Formats: sequence, C-alpha cells, structure tokens
Amino acid sequence: MNYKAPKGTFDIFGKKAKIYEKIENVSKKIMNLYGFSQIRTPIFEDAGLFVRSLGETSDVVQKEMYLFKDKGDRLLALRPEGTAPVIRAIIENKLAQNSPIKLFYTGQMFRYERPQAGRFRQFYQFGAEIVGTHDPISDFEIIDSSIKILKELGVEYELHLNSVGCMDCRNVYKEVLLTFLKNHENELCENCKTRMYKNPLRVLDCKEDQCKLITSAAPKITDYLCDGCKIHFEKLQSYLKKFKIEYILDPRLVRGLDYYTKTAFEALNFSLGSQNAVLGGGRYDGLAEELGGKNLPGVGFASGIERLVTILERLDKTYEKEHKFMVIPVTENEFDFALEFLAQLRNFVCSLFPYDYKNLKSSMKLASKLDCDYVVLIGQDEIKNNMISLKNLENGQQKSFSKDEFLNIISNERCNFGL
Ligand code: HAM
Repeated sequence: MNYKAPKGTFDIFGKKAKIYEKIENVSKKIMNLYGFSQIRTPIFEDAGLFVRSLGETSDVVQKEMYLFKDKGDRLLALRPEGTAPVIRAIIENKLAQNSPIKLFYTGQMFRYERPQAGRFRQFYQFGAEIVGTHDPISDFEIIDSSIKILKELGVEYELHLNSVGCMDCRNVYKEVLLTFLKNHENELCENCKTRMYKNPLRVLDCKEDQCKLITSAAPKITDYLCDGCKIHFEKLQSYLKKFKIEYILDPRLVRGLDYYTKTAFEALNFSLGSQNAVLGGGRYDGLAEELGGKNLPGVGFASGIERLVTILERLDKTYEKEHKFMVIPVTENEFDFALEFLAQLRNFVCSLFPYDYKNLKSSMKLASKLDCDYVVLIGQDEIKNNMISLKNLENGQQKSFSKDEFLNIISNERCNFGL
C-alpha cells in the first residue's frame, strides 16, 4: 500500500520550506517591533468553542470543521482558525489582567473545504491579536503591521476596508438588508435562500456569481452605522490616511466569521485567482463575553502562509542564500583533523561531512549534489602546516589559508575569500 498525504494537505520541504521560514521570520520580526509576544495554543479544542464564536451560519461551522470524539467522549475540533483559541487562552489564563495584551501566533489550521488553488484542508496562518482596548489606534496598528509584513516580503496587495458596525446598528441594517434580499429571493443561490433568514450578512459574502450580482446593488452597512461606530471608523481611516496606507472602501466586505464588529479588512492579491485574500481580520468586541469572559474588546488579523508562498514562488524571489560548506578529508587518515575543523566551522556557517566516505572524488561529487558552495579540503600537507584548502565549486578556483586566518574571516560573517 502506497500512502499519500491526505487530500488537501501536502508536505513542505526544500526551497518551499525556506520560504515558509522567511515569511514566519519576517512576520515575527515585525510583531516584535510592535510589541507583540508569542502564544501557542493547542491544535485541537472543544468543538463548542468554535461553534460559539464563529457562528452557526458560518461556512466553517456548517461544513468545514474537522470534528472527532476522543476516548473520553469529548467532542473536539481541529482548530479552523486562531482567534477563538487565543481568546479562550486569555480568559482561562487570566492574561487580561495585563490588558491590553498583544499576542501573535503561527501554525496549522484545518478546514474541510473543497481543495483548489490557494485553498487547502490543512494550511498555515500567521496571526496577531490586540485584546483589551477599543482604541482605533489598535485597529490601525493591526492593519499597519500586517501590511508591513506584505511590503517587506515584496507581496503586492490591495487593501479593502469596511465597518460591519456593532450589534445595535447591525441589527437595524440586517432588517433593511433582509427586505432587499426578499425582493430578490428567487434569484439567489439555494444556500443563500435559506441562510438569508438566519443571517442576511452571509449573502454579502457569497461567492456565487448570481448572488454577487444582486448584492452589488444592496444597501450599504456603512450608511446605517450608529454614531459610535461611525466615529471609530472615521478615526481609523484618518490614521490610515496620515500614514499613507491606501485602501478601498468595500461595503460588501463582511468576512466569513460571525464574531466581527466594526472594522473588517482584507488584503487581496489578484495574481492568485479566486482565492485572492492573503490576509484578513477585524475587530471582535463581543467575542470574549460570548466565550464566558468579561467584556474584552479585541482586533486582529491572520495571513494565509500558503498564499504568500505561492506569490513568492511565482516572483521567484530567492532570499539571500546561506553558504554551504563540506569539509572533505583527502583520505581516512585526515578524519580526526577534518572532524575537529568541521566542529569549529559549524559555529559560523552551515557545514557538512561526506557520510559513508569512500574517497576524495566521490566526496566532491556528493558536495555538488548537495548544493554546497565550497569544499574545505584537508590532506597531510594541510595538517602539517595547520592550513586548509578551500575550493569554490562554482568556478573551480582553489586557495589555501592558515586555519586561524580562515576561521577569522568566517567569524566576521564574511564569505569573501577572493575566489
Ligand atoms: P480568515 O479570513 O478565515 O480569518 O483567514 C485568514 C487567512 O487565512 C485568509 O485571508 C487566507 O489567506 C487564509 N486561509 C483561510 N482559509 C484557507 C484555506 N482553506 N487554505 C489556505 N489559506 C486559507 C481568520 O481566520 C481570522 N481568525 C482572522 C482574524 C484574526 N480576525 C481577527 N483576528
């Protein structure tokens, strides 16, 4: 039996793994600069946590959760997203005593979706949350920092922004929207015909062409915002303008999860096709209370790492390659010296040893196969004179160095050997 990775999942290795690492490193660096610290939550949670927070009418809860019962008969779910677990962790560990609290996370999420380009059943997100403040500057910081990640990675984006209001003004809007939708009920897709009665906002998020066409003429939620929500939205926009972050007001942007209040945003990259959101987020002022905590407003974002990887692969962005060395003894008699030198070299650069050593020739072949940039050759002459010989595998040039001089060059983070 040949096993394969389950549908909608794949293995990550080689150059692709390097790009994941780069994205996570850039994201972490920026989060640290904005004062976020890391949180790691379990990969599975009580299923109720997600049903409660994401909303029963959301696609994720309706059809995409990976549910299973453990041996203790508990109904658990593989996490489909990271915000609800973070809020659960804040409540459970009483982290809000030091609120506002700023946390970031990265890891696998799971959604039983129909796999297609940019949409997987297991995918990685990098996300961040600011919890414990209503301040629109925190909304600004979330958008600003997430966009900074895209800029630093060289990923193009179009920022779409909306406000979905608070419970009060949204309820007024829902009535208005429902009246509009009822007039077009026959033209909507089957799914929307039923979910419009449970949550008409979901129709605005429908990806079916016929629903998109109808909702393009729907009343706009921003025309129904209460004074508080309106001021919040205006302030956020004033900060974005001040710092010259361009955005497009998108009144149909309601996001796929039910916990959002006020700010909703997405960054889109149109080279991706239909799954074009590289990140999304917004404010969720009622979520902590919904999960049994006290009133803890919050705002956050999450980016889909696979989508960023696809863009970077297409751009063929190769990140500064770290040099790779192989230390090769000319015969087995030089093993001791070579192994000691390898240990010293590893304090500074990636260095390999030719396993299953046969001779110099086969080791040289192995170094090329493993994509090494340089080989360090160690023979009897080198040992006698406390030297090493360095060969550049790209141009074939070779040069000898005293061992100490060579380590000194490497320790100064230079790989400039005049070869
Ligand atoms: P989301 O929009 O559901 O939001 O997901 C965020 C990002 O994850 C999307 O923009 C997309 O790039 C990526 N993504 C989602 N589903 C998939 C999939 N099946 N395959 C590949 N990538 C995917 C959230 O998850 C919220 N928790 C974001 C948030 C944080 N809101 C507030 N704080």
